[in-house]
Order: sequence, then C-alpha cells, then structure tokens
Amino acid sequence: KVLGYNGPPGSGKGTQSPIIKDEYCLCHLATGDMLRAAVAAKTPLGIKAKETMEKGELVSDDLVVGIIDEAMKKPSCQKGFILDGFPRTVAQAEKLDEMLQKQGTKIDKVLDFAIDDSILEERITGRWIHASSGRTYHTKFAPPKVHGVDDVTGEPLMQRKDDTAEVLKSRLQAFHKQTKPVIDYYSKKGVVAMLPAEKPPKEVTVEVQKVLSS
Ligand code: AP5
Ligand code: ZN
Repeated sequence: KVLGYNGPPGSGKGTQSPIIKDEYCLCHLATGDMLRAAVAAKTPLGIKAKETMEKGELVSDDLVVGIIDEAMKKPSCQKGFILDGFPRTVAQAEKLDEMLQKQGTKIDKVLDFAIDDSILEERITGRWIHASSGRTYHTKFAPPKVHGVDDVTGEPLMQRKDDTAEVLKSRLQAFHKQTKPVIDYYSKKGVVAMLPAEKPPKEVTVEVQKVLSS
C-alpha cells in the first residue's frame, strides 16, 4: 500500500502516522522528520535546508524527491509506506507517480486532513515532540505524564523551531499556494479521501481505518 497524507501544519498527520503504520505494517516516511534529522546532524542536505525550514518555506523539489527516492528503496519498506508531508507540490506528485510507476505500483489513497486554519495556531504552539521516536504531545490536548518528559523513555521533549505563530503564517501560506493543488491533482485520479481532522485524535484514527478498509 502507498498512502499519502496531505494537510496543513498541525492537522494531525504526524499524530496518526505511528498508529496506522503499526496496524498496517507500513513504513512511515515523513519528509519533515527526515529533514530535521539532517539539520540536527549538519549533513550537506541539512545545511541546505535549515534556513528555508526556519522561515516556514518549502525546500526544493529536487532535495525532497531525492530523500524519498532513497528511503523507498529500504527493504523494511517493502510492504508499503505512509508518505507524511510528501508530495507537497504538483511537481513532487508527478515525480512520485513516475517513481512508483517504475516499480510497477501507484498511490492507493491520498488522505486530505481537512481542518479550518483558525484551529492550527493553538495546536502548533502547544506541541512538544520526542525527536528520536517521533512521539507528539500537546500541553492541552495530549499532555505527557510529566511536563517536558517523554512518557516511554523519560527523555526530555523539545519544541520545533518553526512552531511559532509567526512562522506558522508562512507555513500556511505555502500550504494554500503550493500544497492544496496536490489535492486537485489526485482528485482527478479518484484517490482522495477527505478526513474530518478537527475531531479528537481517536475519532480521526477511526476515520482513517474506515478509509483503508473501504
Ligand atoms: P513538516 O514536518 O511536514 O511540518 P508540517 O507540514 O508543517 O506539519 P506538522 O508536522 O506541523 O503537522 P502535523 O500534521 O504532523 O501535526 P501533528 O500531528 O504533529 O515540515 C516541516 C518543514 O519541512 C516544511 O515547512 C518545509 O520547510 C520542509 N518540508 C517537509 N516536507 C517537504 C516537502 N515535501 N517539500 C518541501 N519542503 C518540505 O499535530 C500537531 C499538534 O496537535 C500536536 O501537538 C498534537 O498532539 C496535536 N493534535 C494532533 N491531532 C489532534 C487532534 N485531532 N485534536 C487535538 N490535538 C491534536
Ligand atoms: Zn508532522
């Protein structure tokens, strides 16, 4: 199975991914997580992407297509993948379709995490993450047992540099201008399923499961 998760910052893509990934034995490929890891490790890719990400703009199509192409080849990904935050431009979608076609497969579903912009600032500014596992918390909606500490490992949580109200504005602008058209592109192929992403996390999970079993 190949699933694409499309939605604005804070719509719940990263929260739903680990649950669905385990249930369907899929590989979770999140371009944002991969880029943040590259920035932290100061790799040549990370050095190129850092400033653009901190401004809330999209990094170049070539960079992200390159990392996805590389990641899809891993043997652990043979059962399929969740593409979280990719493709995010129509050019990325065209490239992805080409890559999948070469492997004799295609995208099965694109989940559109539909949510009103007004809800996103509170979600984004209250987010805390455990970087190595990708676990996500929220001060109000999903608080950890101990403030600032991961429930499972006891390690410290961190906040993302781009999770400010100010940077969110640019991220939303990029979403509406560059990423929304990806939904139109896949609607024409009949693979888009809309999700009510404003519902509580558990209800959103049920909606994703319904789409996947249909
Ligand atoms: P990326 O990391 O993909 O960030 P994003 O798209 O802005 O999405 P987020 O991770 O902010 O949102 P999410 O939907 O995962 O929310 P979450 O589930 O954590 O990208 C970062 C940057 O990398 C980009 O700006 C760009 O520069 C670059 N980049 C990445 N991919 C790229 C690409 N393909 N092309 C070019 N550039 C690229 O939830 C948020 C919070 O809300 C959490 O605290 C969570 O606990 C809470 N929450 C979640 N669901 C619910 C719910 N249902 N109810 C209440 N609270 C909830
Ligand atoms: Zn995310």
